[in-house]
Amino acid sequence: MTKPLDNTATQDRKPMTFNINGVQRTFDIDDPALPGWVEERALTCGGYPYGRKLEKKVYKAQLRALQIELVKLQGWLRADGGRVVAVFEGRDAAGKGGSIKRVRDYMSPRTARNVALPKPTETERGQWYFQRYAAQLPTAGEFVTFDRSWYNRGVVEPVMGFCTPEEHERFLAEAPQFERMIVNDGIHLFKFWLNIGRETQLKRFHARRHSPLKHWKFSAIDMAAMEKWDEITRMRDLMIERTHTEHAPWTVVLANDKRRARLAVIRHILTALPYPGRDMEAIGEEDGAVVGSGPGFLR
Ligand code: ADP
Ligand code: AMP
Ligand code: MLT
Repeated sequence: MTKPLDNTATQDRKPMTFNINGVQRTFDIDDPALPGWVEERALTCGGYPYGRKLEKKVYKAQLRALQIELVKLQGWLRADGGRVVAVFEGRDAAGKGGSIKRVRDYMSPRTARNVALPKPTETERGQWYFQRYAAQLPTAGEFVTFDRSWYNRGVVEPVMGFCTPEEHERFLAEAPQFERMIVNDGIHLFKFWLNIGRETQLKRFHARRHSPLKHWKFSAIDMAAMEKWDEITRMRDLMIERTHTEHAPWTVVLANDKRRARLAVIRHILTALPYPGRDMEAIGEEDGAVVGSGPGFLR
């Protein structure tokens, strides 16, 4: 097993060298100037299908229409006692937090709960792996978002050395069984993988590192993630392959453009749930260029 990452140590940070699509690049996260090659490819990298982000005016109008529908959905959950779980996964800086925020903006804090668990405590490490996540599942009427989830053991833990290869393998075999029980109990389960390209991640890390409001989000794990890009890609592919099932499919969202990604997530949820008064015209068509199902849609 690789040596676990020490995420408390202050880093002696040197510029990093990466090979991106066959080109050697040097990147210094501490340099306030963002390199031109990052800026240039921040939107289009990784096969992103659009050359411009969605216009702000269009985004705002569509978001508002979708949020009105989310309020109706919440009314239905409350009245009928329905339960929803939406898991958000993706690399660091994929936009999980921002998407969750837009889903929850106008929902009651009593109905909509977000779960963002810190690293497991000593007690939790002595428990069944899924136990602390099971404890957070919704009660009647609740919509629960997970900002990272049991899927920590699919990518972060094996890549950073926080679990053994045996624990990782057992996780891949058991996650579909865990989800089978959740779905059989009547919970509506969504699993989103927000996919970003390499320059997108670098641009966002850089912005985070140099912003007085966001630098707290920049962690040692984020530093390591920049260098472990390819290993994370391999773990991601394996995880999606092994845990994409009929009862709990992965929805892959290409997320270089945060605006399109947020709309795609909300639209997908609304399209799947048959609440009364649903306005399909307000919801609009899912954009097949940025949202798709399972391993086939990953790039
Ligand atoms: P985030 O991306 O959620 O802002 P980090 O990038 O710092 O936070 O960490 C990524 C994930 O790794 C988090 O879910 C965190 O709980 C988990 N993690 C960090 N340290 C450990 C550890 N020692 N054992 C298991 N999981 C850990
Ligand atoms: P703007 O913030 O609209 O002025 O965009 C500045 C630059 O950021 C553009 O040149 C885009 O290439 C890049 N960009 C646009 N959208 C994104 C995004 N969602 N993530 C990362 N970079 C982006
Ligand atoms: C985000 O909210 O942008 C990220 O996906 C969270 C993270 O960087 O871990």
